[in-house]
Amino acid sequence: MADVLTFADLSNLSADPPLYGVIGHPVAHSRSPALQLAAFQAAGLPAQYPRIELTPEELPAAVEAMRRRPFAGWNCTVPHKPALLALVDARDPSAEAAGGANTVLNENGRLTGFSTDGPGWVRAIREDFGLDVRDLRILVLGAGGAGQAIACQCALEGCERLVIANRTPEKARELAGRLAPRFHSTKLLGADLRLKAIPLEEAAIAREIHTIDLVVNGTSSGLRPSDPPVLPARVLQPHLCVYDTIYQPARTGLLRAAQEAGARTANGLSMLLHQGALAWEIWTGRPAPLDAMRLALQQN
Ligand code: ATR
Repeated sequence: MADVLTFADLSNLSADPPLYGVIGHPVAHSRSPALQLAAFQAAGLPAQYPRIELTPEELPAAVEAMRRRPFAGWNCTVPHKPALLALVDARDPSAEAAGGANTVLNENGRLTGFSTDGPGWVRAIREDFGLDVRDLRILVLGAGGAGQAIACQCALEGCERLVIANRTPEKARELAGRLAPRFHSTKLLGADLRLKAIPLEEAAIAREIHTIDLVVNGTSSGLRPSDPPVLPARVLQPHLCVYDTIYQPARTGLLRAAQEAGARTANGLSMLLHQGALAWEIWTGRPAPLDAMRLALQQN
């Protein structure tokens, strides 16, 4: 099978052994094939899992082709997650909350869309820091795709406090506005104190950081090794846990700054692992073979 398939290849695929895959644009970098094939192999389940490059224009026809082919399920990466949600027959609450689907289950032509990004992140925080998101005061950096998925999950979990910081502050305010109903609860802090939108600026962050337990980078700043840290060490503190959703590079400027400040750190590899494990569990109904999946990520 070619390394990356295109729309034209969709009509030439056999569904034996069962066919899964990942769609995206671009998709060549995706580590999902290594992750998912390791899981299928460890479970003794034969499967195919190609990368499929699709443009946004090709997506609707591709979803119909994948429904009929039939793909048993698939993963979806940028930029198709929101558009895919509009094309499935049923939406799991996780996908509704995230505003996009990263996982599809095909049951005899009926497609259900899920988002495992937020739930996968919750498992990652538990694994990396031994902490439960519900107990934490969390600062999310970014209000784009990743920032939204994480902020929405924080709201679903009912975390103690959520501060959303974005370079374009209106986007943070808009996101906080959507999440506000979930923060009117019986927790000790009032809704106005439990949820806040601020500009991603040093002075504004410095005012909040002493009442934060976990900082999460959901911006794309740090993807290029030359990017300056999205926050400098001087605003970070030793009591913090700092999680970067970026895993390539493995140590972003933010994580270096956090280490310099004495904070605990982890990168997005654990989120990649757990969002994939949850997708695999949706498809197979079995607990994911996490050790095999973790090993595959370390080796690829
Ligand atoms: P989209 O905004 O289309 O959903 P994304 O990659 O999911 O794309 O989001 C990028 C996120 O990274 C945004 O929060 C963006 O901030 P803006 O909303 O102000 O654009 C943030 N971002 C990108 N580069 C950044 C930088 N150099 N510093 C801080 N934030 C940055």
